[in-house]
Amino acid sequence: MKTIRVMTIFGTRPEAIKMAPLVKELEGRAGVESLCCVTAQHREMLDSVLHIFQLTPQYDLNIMEPRQTLSTITSKCLLGVEQVLQEAKPDLVLVHGDTSTTFSGALAAFYQRVMVGHVEAGLRTYDKYSPFPEEMNRTLVGDIADLHFCPTRANRENLAREGIADGVFITGNTVIDAMTTTVVKDYHFSTRLLNELDYDRKKVILVTCHRRENYGAPMEHIMTALRRLAESHGEVELVYPVHLSPVVREAAEKYLAGHPRIHLIDPLDVEEMHNLMARCYLVMTDSGGLQEEAPAMGKPVLVLRRETERPEAIAAGTVQLAGTEEETVFRLGARLLEEPQAYERMAHAVNPYGDGRACRRIADAIEWKFGLRGEPPEMFGT
Ligand code: UD1
Ligand code: UDP
Repeated sequence: MKTIRVMTIFGTRPEAIKMAPLVKELEGRAGVESLCCVTAQHREMLDSVLHIFQLTPQYDLNIMEPRQTLSTITSKCLLGVEQVLQEAKPDLVLVHGDTSTTFSGALAAFYQRVMVGHVEAGLRTYDKYSPFPEEMNRTLVGDIADLHFCPTRANRENLAREGIADGVFITGNTVIDAMTTTVVKDYHFSTRLLNELDYDRKKVILVTCHRRENYGAPMEHIMTALRRLAESHGEVELVYPVHLSPVVREAAEKYLAGHPRIHLIDPLDVEEMHNLMARCYLVMTDSGGLQEEAPAMGKPVLVLRRETERPEAIAAGTVQLAGTEEETVFRLGARLLEEPQAYERMAHAVNPYGDGRACRRIADAIEWKFGLRGEPPEMFGT
């Protein structure tokens, strides 16, 4: 039987969470030899995901350095992936989303004339500086890729407007596949804090904030607003698993430390994170992934950014753009704490991003492309 060699390349926490179920799916396909290369643009935060999903990559470039710059990540990945591709000779490389690993992985594959598949394709804000550098990364990967796995119909329409119509599949987002294994009833956390929080009588706000375009003044405004929310509302317990970036940790320490109901904790492993999200009252975040996960659990989300490439949950009413101005972030947060009707209007479960079968569709599309299967995959949402 003909087999194809498919190499997944990823390097950061969110890519790993969203690629892990796809690696598992590919490993289960008789016609596919699945290989995995991590750049380790993240180290501890990546390893935590590899551990939870029990993935052992065949290649690990181990590139991370403290306070790394975009150029160092990109150049180290490009050189490292080139060597891996020359040795492994895959038929197809899969990259995910919009990180520097994604861009350099796709570029390295293109230089070796290896076919590229882009998972989570077609997300756009049309502002090249926001999110920075992700908008440019994903746009450039869109030009390089041969196969485009779009989570939603709107993502496919974005690509169509750029003249990209061939090899485009609507699959749903693989993060919804990942959540089918991580969220469990009666989950027991590994820390006392998370086990002992009174999720019924208190209002637990889950916060994350790490984006590069928010470094400096925007982060200062956001964090000041968060502190004011905790100070002015005695029922609030604010839980913030702080990203390991030193820039972010310094800001969180400066603006949020020392309050008894503000809990600055280390990054959570993905199981803890998803189960905390399932129990919290409200999510305030600049993360991309949280905007997809929280709506599926019926949790309102205030997005701490000026724009989003994920308009679907805004249209569904569970996500609101809060921007990065202190007063607006404070006011919108306070409204969801004080006005039950405003809260209830946002707190309903919606799943515009997937149905848990994205990985199956992506693997089917790959098999179809390489002639291992007669039929193209069904599209998500049809
Ligand atoms: C990266 C991605 C961003 C994604 C985010 C997910 C780019 C340019 N940015 O941003 O798109 O949303 O990951 O979290 O690709 N660090 C550690 N240990 C870790 C991880 C990070 O110490 O496990 C520290 C290091 O000092 C590192 C710094 O965090 O230099 C920043 O990491 P980096 O990958 O450059 O940027 P992120 O903000 O994480
Ligand atoms: N996440 C996690 N632990 C944390 C914070 C986030 O497991 O302490 C998960 C989160 O549930 C989501 C992903 O990491 O699946 C999002 O990663 P991040 O916010 O770092 O990146 P983005 O999605 O913004 O690119």
